[in-house]
Amino acid sequence: MVNNAKKRLPGLVDVHVHLRVPGGEHKEDIRSGTAAALAGGFTSILAMPNTSPPLVTLPDYRAAQQLADSQALCDVRHFAGASADHLDALPRLGQEAVGLKIYMDQTYGPLRTASLVALMSCFRQWPREKPIAVHAEGLSIAVVIGLAAAYGRSVHLCHVSRRDEIRLIAQAKQQGLAVTCEVTPHHLFLTEGDVERLGSLGDMRPRLATRDDVNALWAHLDTVIDCIATDHAPHTLGEKQSDPPPPGVPGLETALPLMLTAVVEGRLTMDRLVALMATQPRRIFGLPEQPDTWVEVEVGTPYLIENGELYTKCGWSPFSGMQVRGRVETVWLRGRSAFERDGAGHRYGDVHQRRSTPPNESVV
Ligand code: DOR
Ligand code: ZN
Ligand code: ZN
Repeated sequence: MVNNAKKRLPGLVDVHVHLRVPGGEHKEDIRSGTAAALAGGFTSILAMPNTSPPLVTLPDYRAAQQLADSQALCDVRHFAGASADHLDALPRLGQEAVGLKIYMDQTYGPLRTASLVALMSCFRQWPREKPIAVHAEGLSIAVVIGLAAAYGRSVHLCHVSRRDEIRLIAQAKQQGLAVTCEVTPHHLFLTEGDVERLGSLGDMRPRLATRDDVNALWAHLDTVIDCIATDHAPHTLGEKQSDPPPPGVPGLETALPLMLTAVVEGRLTMDRLVALMATQPRRIFGLPEQPDTWVEVEVGTPYLIENGELYTKCGWSPFSGMQVRGRVETVWLRGRSAFERDGAGHRYGDVHQRRSTPPNESVV
């Protein structure tokens, strides 16, 4: 239990973010996405390749990474995507990308690799020292674990959400396989019971699960789960109200407040939070330390999550209206102030923003 207090945490790492560049800049761009990251306490994020076009060739990968290098407010690295049509690009991509992302199941966008021959090619060609992260649900998780065992290499399972999945991963770890996994805050704090209230704002892949599944995730948080990742997947409110709505919810700005609330409630320790949101994701993805980098949080004081306070361009959260008890006050990145909550607005380094205004339109 933590009483009202200011705490200093290391810069957090989110290994699962959709920045939507290129092709989806009306949902999020480098500037707005990294402003949201800092406001949520993340100083290093890994961006996903299911963009338009997807990052499956060297030129498209390089263009996305170069844009991030020139515009980002925090550290950004990109995954390359696995595509059966571009398997020959993997060795070159493997030299530059932070990791390979494989989509085994249907999600947002057409990027998907479901054939055994393509999966085997990925596991054979991708450099052993670079991570492979997989969107795999249900039976696909068993396939991924089988591939990791057969090729004797590590694999990272994205957004695990079901009791049986986490049990299988626990079993694989017990056998000594190099399997790691992440869970999202939305799969920890929402259940399928929330879908009626949230409508399409509660729709994502994997879908929200049962109370039993959620309890199983919490029960494995101290042992089997390696990191918390947001799967920040912004879509506009208009898109979410269309038919069919695109799956996905934003999460960069709500993850730490939610997890700090769990610390206040005694559901996990602050040390474990730091391991799940900073130390372990940095280690699994081989990310360098960021010197003189930290996040100051206010823990204990209740406040409401409100759409109007968010810096993600999509401007909404499935947690809007929820009371939480943890909040980012300031972020320092390599010895410079990168974010500061100052009451009337937020300050991002030398860019000052007013609340509720898209960050890329309000440089004062
Ligand atoms: O709900 C989701 N949305 N799950 C994913 O895996 C992809 C994401 C997106 O890109 O919108
Ligand atoms: Zn996914
Ligand atoms: Zn995702």
